[in-house]
Amino acid sequence: MQFLVVMWISSLLVGTQAQSTASFSRGNDRNKRCQYTFMVDSPTEASCPATASSAEIEALKSRLGLVEALISRLAGGEATDTEAQTGLRTAYTQVIGDRDRLQQENTRLGQQVKQLQQTVEELQREAERLRSRPCPQQSSQSVPLYDSSRQTGTDPSWSYGSPAYQELKAEVAEFPAPRTENTESIRGCGELLWVGEPVTHRKADSIAGRYGVWMQDSAEATGPYGPNMVWRIDTVGTEVRQLYGYEDMDQLSRGFPAKVLLLPEAVESTGAAMYRGSLYYQRRRSRTLIRYELGSESIAARRDLPHAGFHGQFPYSWGGYTDIDFAVDENGLWVIYSTNKAKGAIVVSQLDPHSLEVMNSWETNIRKATVANAFMICGRLYTVASYGSPNTTVNYTFDTATSQSKAIAVPFQNRHRYNSMIDYNPAQKKLFAWDNYHMVSYDIRLGKQQ
Ligand SMILES: *[C@@H]1O[C@H](CO)[C@@H](O)[C@H](O)[C@H]1NC(C)=O
Ligand SMILES: *[C@@H]1O[C@H](CO)[C@@H](O)[C@H](O)[C@H]1NC(C)=O
Repeated sequence: MQFLVVMWISSLLVGTQAQSTASFSRGNDRNKRCQYTFMVDSPTEASCPATASSAEIEALKSRLGLVEALISRLAGGEATDTEAQTGLRTAYTQVIGDRDRLQQENTRLGQQVKQLQQTVEELQREAERLRSRPCPQQSSQSVPLYDSSRQTGTDPSWSYGSPAYQELKAEVAEFPAPRTENTESIRGCGELLWVGEPVTHRKADSIAGRYGVWMQDSAEATGPYGPNMVWRIDTVGTEVRQLYGYEDMDQLSRGFPAKVLLLPEAVESTGAAMYRGSLYYQRRRSRTLIRYELGSESIAARRDLPHAGFHGQFPYSWGGYTDIDFAVDENGLWVIYSTNKAKGAIVVSQLDPHSLEVMNSWETNIRKATVANAFMICGRLYTVASYGSPNTTVNYTFDTATSQSKAIAVPFQNRHRYNSMIDYNPAQKKLFAWDNYHMVSYDIRLGKQQ
């Protein structure tokens, strides 16, 4: 480049003037760079005049101007390069930042994986230990982890000895298969007026417990488990099959499950319910409803829910494949879902709890995708507006007795901002929910019997 520039400058300065003699020399300049020089005699001057003519100076000036322009163009190119370099440096800094963040996230996930692996190993060791002991006529699928005979103190608010519960139990006994027609005859039924603050009973300690479903038997528990038994399924993962059982609320809060049952078919999402000694749930990636009997530890009934959307077709607003949601109330067992025919509007069907046959169906006018969750109380469907907002409302109800719907506004709190399950428990007269790792319950108040 240097060479070219000097050549060009020289020829520019010489211009088209006639030349008698010319010489060419080559040497290092002060900066030790090779410099080529042409020497040309002036045709008119024997020596350099003290003052050049103004025309000559003008000509030199304009040529120098051209040289300056050329140099500044070259220098300008360098400036552009510098700008580009600054841009690159900024992008590089950003990429490094992103990489650091990803590395942190990776470390955090790695820790969670390690925790999960530890839990799995603990469970495997425990199973190994138990397998090595003789097990008198126990089903092979059940893995008792806790001495079930030990009775622990129970929170008095969860006691079944309360008069209200005794009354309810008497009523249930009197109407073994309650139907919609006698809703109002069940004492304590009425419209939802108030939902209390969430009370946390347990926080899941691994990522598998971000979403889940927890429940107590909603009617008189039959089979080998007492009425205080609490059940839990962590539903993050693709092959969800563990059903954990805790003797009571106290044990749920304190620690290890007393029972781990391995379900024969994987569970889809958080719609399961416990009713009269059976777990009702949706089989993964299907519209198949399953009744798993706790007593025999086997599937007692299975049936497809006609036309029901599944695996992401009609979920609640938070997604999570919550297409099919079981519910239990004073009237029995229900399922909340949608169909193509209903175009995404909530359909609620009452099920025969024994055979899972649909006994009756209602199509509502609220789109399932717009609600965070839904539950049944006294034959009425209720929907919650938001799963993530800490202060939201139960803002819609549909009465299966009259097929009438209406807007309501009962305040409801998602304290942990990601509520993946809300179910009513008619035995406790409470709502159970799973809010971002937290297993919580809410007291409720119902209006007077109409
Ligand atoms: C309830 O809230 C949801 C979400 O904000 C909204 O889409 C819906 O229209 C509301 N329903 C009624 C009946 O107000
Ligand atoms: C939600 O409501 C509670 C009680 O009504 C209030 O204390 C709290 O500040 C509210 N939170 C937000 C985020 O509005």
